[in-house]
Amino acid sequence: MAYVTHIKKVNPDLDYKKLLNNKVIKEGAELLKKGEVVAFPTETVYGLGAEANNSEAVKKIFSVKGRPADNPLIVHIADQKQLEKVVQGAEVPELNKLFSAFWPGPLTVIFQRQKVIPDITTAGLDTVAVRMPSHRVARALIARASFPLAAPSANISGGPSPTRAEHVYRDLKGKLSLIIDGGPCEVGVESTVLDLSGSGPEILRPGAITGHDISAVLGKPVPSSRQAEDNRAMTPPAPGMKYRHYSPAAPVILVHNCQPDNLKNYIHSRKPKEPGLIVSTETAQKIRGRGFFENFKIAEMGSIKDLSQAAHNLFACLRNMDYEGVDYIIVEAVPEKGIGRAVMNRLYKAAEEEVFLEQFDKKEGDR
Ligand code: TXA
Ligand code: MG
Repeated sequence: MAYVTHIKKVNPDLDYKKLLNNKVIKEGAELLKKGEVVAFPTETVYGLGAEANNSEAVKKIFSVKGRPADNPLIVHIADQKQLEKVVQGAEVPELNKLFSAFWPGPLTVIFQRQKVIPDITTAGLDTVAVRMPSHRVARALIARASFPLAAPSANISGGPSPTRAEHVYRDLKGKLSLIIDGGPCEVGVESTVLDLSGSGPEILRPGAITGHDISAVLGKPVPSSRQAEDNRAMTPPAPGMKYRHYSPAAPVILVHNCQPDNLKNYIHSRKPKEPGLIVSTETAQKIRGRGFFENFKIAEMGSIKDLSQAAHNLFACLRNMDYEGVDYIIVEAVPEKGIGRAVMNRLYKAAEEEVFLEQFDKKEGDR
């Protein structure tokens, strides 16, 4: 079925009571109650929500995104009451500590599934992922609907996550009727996924809340799983077989040690028609105004002194390069500390190639 897609703005700074009674929030809640999907802002990325306990509604999420049925969804809750329903009877000794430290906020917790959650939402797993977003528009929508929402990121499966309502529109226009616009997402990368269902806590996906933050609260080490660590798993088993993730249409090349000269030498060696460069503010300052880089699209991720800026801008930068039609995208690697780890995790998955530019250091004189 083809829909006319509307983007409707809601001011997230409204008083919470006013938000609950906001016309657009009410409209969204009504659509959700009818079993429709609705896109909404969260503090991480935009989500594509449907009633978590309604199998038919959740099925629509998978078809709208083109998401493989074996990839489970996160259940989003508005408050502690909903949490109690979802974790009913589950033995999760650490949940209270995590709850008071990080919720609402960008942390998803996985624990043993309860009967209330249908198979389709968890892709048949016996665990379920739950998160309480801090974005007030998201919470008001879930509260108004009065049931938890299953919600993946609101992008076409395999592409970069959306951090603005327009990104959702570009991807999903005609496939849903309402995109609630709450402005740009503050964090910009998806929530940290923490697995509490096994023998010890383990991070499956790095995010703004780091392993260090979690281990300080739990009082024990919190390792990253192989899945989260296996960053360099981007070498495909055969060319072209790479599983696409967070990837824009143009190929992404992740480059380390971006100095103007070696970057120039590297680009020379590739002979691209139209490269796009996504670099730190520091690197942008060095290359802007240099003749060689004059005709390239250059986007700034932010200062390497504050990696939350890179997280905030990453997906918008990748998308903008595609919207501008560049033929490949060079992205500068950032330090893998704090939220930089989450940024690099997404980049490793998005990239087709990783290049260390040191080797292009001394070739300047050759050209
Ligand atoms: O920040 C976020 O988490 C955003 C916003 C919309 O809340 N949502 C999001 O959802 O990123 P999605 O579906 O794009 O990513 C969810 C991740 C997937 O990697 C999925 O495999 C994993 O969480 N996941 C969900 N349930 C799981 C489970 N039971 N066991 C292991 N991994 C699970
Ligand atoms: Mg996603």
